Amino acid sequence: MSGAGELKARAALLGLFDTPALHAQVTEPAETCAALAAAVRERRAAHAGLDRSNVGGWHSATDMLDWGGEAAARVADLAIRLARRLSHFDGRDPAEIEWSLRMWANVSPPGALNMSHAHPGVLWAAVFYVDMGDAGEAGGGELYLEDPRFPLPQARMAGFRMIGSDGQPQSPDKRIVTKAGDLIVFPAWLRHGVRPHGGTRERISIAMNLDAK
Ligand SMILES: [Fe+2]
Repeated sequence: MSGAGELKARAALLGLFDTPALHAQVTEPAETCAALAAAVRERRAAHAGLDRSNVGGWHSATDMLDWGGEAAARVADLAIRLARRLSHFDGRDPAEIEWSLRMWANVSPPGALNMSHAHPGVLWAAVFYVDMGDAGEAGGGELYLEDPRFPLPQARMAGFRMIGSDGQPQSPDKRIVTKAGDLIVFPAWLRHGVRPHGGTRERISIAMNLDAK
């Protein structure tokens, strides 16, 4: 290098285009989870499931608010409160926004998974974990959220990663480790799936679609 040498500069990392999601943990969830598990098992005994993104397992119809009891209503209320926190409506008073919610149950035997998918036609999606099915050390069953920019950063070179605002290479997906009583809320357009359940018992989760009028 000639002349006065290399340029010196300060560079601030701009964290552009946040994708908001919330990971909530219900305080003392045992009673709620037990009530939901009982309602789901009772429903499954009498109703055939649907085939959606689930590979293996039972997927109820999306009318769980009609048969899930008080516990389901409380989980729905929490999910709506969290979605409100993540939402802004130009020129409208948030208090006047009416929210609608569809809810369904997923019962996953060991090895079951959900393929990558999105929830079109609504604003937010949410999952509440009722029973992790003794995944323990074996893990598995985690929700993963895909980076919506993928595979653009890798269009030039496989294995290329952009550095995020935490200073680390950004992964094409984010795996979320949960326990019973956890609730995740994320944009409905964000593609996601569930890794194969590595536990020894059935795993129960409750999914929701939230929308505003
Ligand atoms: Fe989903």
